[in-house]
Amino acid sequence: QVSLPIPQPPTRFLFGNLGDIDPENMPASMWKLADIYGPIFKLDVANRTMLVCSDYELVNDLCDSDRFEKKVDGVLKEVRFLTKDGLFTAYPGEPNWGVAHRILVPVFGPRGIQKYMDIASQMILRWDRFGDREIVCSDDFTRLAFDVIGLCAFGYRFNNFYSPDAHPFVKQMGDVLTESGKRASRLQLENTLRVFSASQNQENVRAMHQLCDEIIAERQAHPQPDSNDLLNAMLEGRDPQTGEKLSAENIRYNLVTFLVAGHETTSGSLSFLFFHLLKNPETYMKAQKEVDDVVGDKPIEYKHLSKFVYIKYAIFEALRYMGPIAFIAKHAKKPTKLAGKYDIDPADQILCNLRPFHHDPKVWGDDADVFRPERFLNGGWESLPKNAFKAFGDGERACIGRGFTEQEMILTVALILQKFQVEMADPSYSLHVHVTLTLKPEDFRIKVRRRPGRD
Ligand code: HEM
Repeated sequence: QVSLPIPQPPTRFLFGNLGDIDPENMPASMWKLADIYGPIFKLDVANRTMLVCSDYELVNDLCDSDRFEKKVDGVLKEVRFLTKDGLFTAYPGEPNWGVAHRILVPVFGPRGIQKYMDIASQMILRWDRFGDREIVCSDDFTRLAFDVIGLCAFGYRFNNFYSPDAHPFVKQMGDVLTESGKRASRLQLENTLRVFSASQNQENVRAMHQLCDEIIAERQAHPQPDSNDLLNAMLEGRDPQTGEKLSAENIRYNLVTFLVAGHETTSGSLSFLFFHLLKNPETYMKAQKEVDDVVGDKPIEYKHLSKFVYIKYAIFEALRYMGPIAFIAKHAKKPTKLAGKYDIDPADQILCNLRPFHHDPKVWGDDADVFRPERFLNGGWESLPKNAFKAFGDGERACIGRGFTEQEMILTVALILQKFQVEMADPSYSLHVHVTLTLKPEDFRIKVRRRPGRD
């Protein structure tokens, strides 16, 4: 069987295709290159070959777990400095991944909403106090997501709504993720020469590990035997397969992993969602009407969650349109042919380029560039082809926090729409994307007003 050639932009001596990637905004480079070179193209980046796949046919084939698996390279390899063999950045086959995965999957499902409501009501109070002031959407959703994970997963209060500045951990993490992204798209030599950024990075990582170690020590000193949170599961749980417990070091890496993986993703997704709802006022009205029909002005309870169907699909639609994670990375377990057409070497890093993939007109139709939650309603979700929606990743390495975050996002949206009338601070705002490890709308601001009678 012949193999088709894979297009590649022209390379430069020593630098390969580094010049084709904007280190400040790698996703935008990949979207642009996909427009020029099509559904598959090849880049030579820092002495490794990267293949970028951007349509359904190719990504669907990459989801065949007999032939492909997650690749931890590039930015994920850099983030390992912080999260080592925690779930997100563990190499395939690393033993601690299996132990942590088997211990944590059963405890990671949706949980009671009391602790969540505790944090969300702090945000609502803060927004009330803001009066006519503008709210930077992703800043407040970051505070919310951080506090929710801290409290629900580890019983720790970051108290991000009680001070003008967010907890130092938030900035340390943002800096480490930004630096990891830059390191992954620089030459090794340049990284070695940047001594100041390296030592600042080390200091941030040290401070974050120290906080995690303190949280663990605090729980060990004051056990909470009745709590079913993730920290207890990590400290007490045994792998059903091997009987092993997690080491204190691995618990630290997973703790920091949940904060990394869980706060920016949730915050970016909620910010993108509000951008779309406000740019498309008919969708905003439908979502708000759903809240009014389901709960009116009564307190939102767990039993209401499954009834917020339009809101759930609006969240999925925002994730499809542009989620906070731009790529999932794979490699072939053995030499193989991708989609029966392209020869693949196992050493190649293959990126699933999620934005163009989620806009492939063969799956999503000619209106793929329109924000339309209705596309998922009335059986639309069930009739999607296999592997069409990958905003939460793929296979056994897919998002372990999906149930947790879906519940958190539905509740947040319902609560905000119940209490407030939201509007864009600048109605002419058009979407600019801010990139760290994740994507979010850059400087997207809203204003809120209490709805009459919704105290
Ligand atoms: C993995 C997306 C929220 C924890 C992933 C992956 C994606 C993803 C795409 C796969 C990454 C890869 O293949 O390299 C999202 C989105 C979220 C979200 C869009 C919110 C809207 C969360 C939350 C948590 C979390 C709230 C934890 C509290 C994780 C972990 C992994 C993961 C631990 C690694 C799983 C493994 O490899 O075993 N997520 N995530 N995520 N996510 Fe999420």
